[in-house]
Amino acid sequence: MDSHYKVNLIRESMPSYEEYCEKIKVIWDNNWMTNSGVLHDELEKRLCTYLGVDNCLLYTNGHSALEAALQSLQLSGEVITTPFTFLSTTQAIVRSGLSPVFCDIAPDTLTIDPSKIEELITEKTVAILGVHVYGIPCDVGAIASLAKKHNLKVIYDAAHSFGSTLNGKGIGTYGDMSAFSMHATKVFNTAEGGAVTFSNPEYYDNLKNIRNFGFNSRYDANLIGFNAKMSEFHAAVGLCNLNRLSQDIANRKKIYNIYKDALSECNSISMPMYPKGLVSNYPYFPIIISPNSMLSRDELFDILDKEGIQTRKYFYPLTNEFSCFQNKYKDFSVPVARKVSRSVLCLPLYSDLSEESAKTVVHTIKKHLK
Ligand SMILES: Cc1ncc(COP(=O)(O)O)c(C=O)c1O
Repeated sequence: MDSHYKVNLIRESMPSYEEYCEKIKVIWDNNWMTNSGVLHDELEKRLCTYLGVDNCLLYTNGHSALEAALQSLQLSGEVITTPFTFLSTTQAIVRSGLSPVFCDIAPDTLTIDPSKIEELITEKTVAILGVHVYGIPCDVGAIASLAKKHNLKVIYDAAHSFGSTLNGKGIGTYGDMSAFSMHATKVFNTAEGGAVTFSNPEYYDNLKNIRNFGFNSRYDANLIGFNAKMSEFHAAVGLCNLNRLSQDIANRKKIYNIYKDALSECNSISMPMYPKGLVSNYPYFPIIISPNSMLSRDELFDILDKEGIQTRKYFYPLTNEFSCFQNKYKDFSVPVARKVSRSVLCLPLYSDLSEESAKTVVHTIKKHLK
């Protein structure tokens, strides 16, 4: 933790030391630390129930879950995706031998804009990879229709959406597959971890084998995999953290509402829209600084930093702007995403954040944006 700040951006949710020690005793009893141990298998089962999905497989992190999803489908060609995301989304596409085609985002939800997808579809398009950014779901209905019409796979990067539901269904039930991150900074964490959820049983074997070098029997591997097996120690963190998750989400909701009530009256700020039917897990609180504001996003970031409030320019830059992708892909026009990435700021939000600290954040922002 950075002691410079009076309000940190994030504080990781952790089980008590005693609860964790109790949970990991079985690892010594069994002398078994990884490769589908009992804690690993128990966590897979419990996540199926918690997420309301038919199938849930665990991975070492959210990035490997995304790569597993893409690579298990054995696709080749172009994937239509959003540049307004964490670098992992685009890197997973490229590292899977696929080409990203960047589509602009909708200004209200900041997720991939379905009205702009169709013009990007070519004979090389094989999939759409949307991101439920800040836990705000993509327009899953419109994307499903497009995918059906053009025979495309749909994969959702649900890294931010663990535990949220849309129209009464777990967010991981939409699309062909959804990849979750259970990184330490996420709403639910296993320290490092990821999961893929899916309904189609035909996906099961590849998704399961790919995390273990593609082994499909003791002496053969029928696809090229990698090592993405979650250890018992990580699964134990998850099993403990699952016990505190509903309280964590309730605490986040309280802070979220303090921010929302206080900042909605501020003309210089807007917030992305939570669509009807979403029960959120309250992962982030992004604000968008209006062009008419007396301070730019970067100026506000610097002022808050000086006042001891840690915020994050998340997501900035767009993934297509990172130097690792320069001159490799066509220059797609994404004006909305570009504008948002230069005006968005994420405020501190975590389960243990006190109401008093949230009010300090609000007060400081209002003081400077007046
Ligand atoms: C949108 C998005 N996708 C993928 C990832 C990768 O997850 P992990 O850090 O667990 O590998 C993250 C992580 O922050 C993310 O925010």
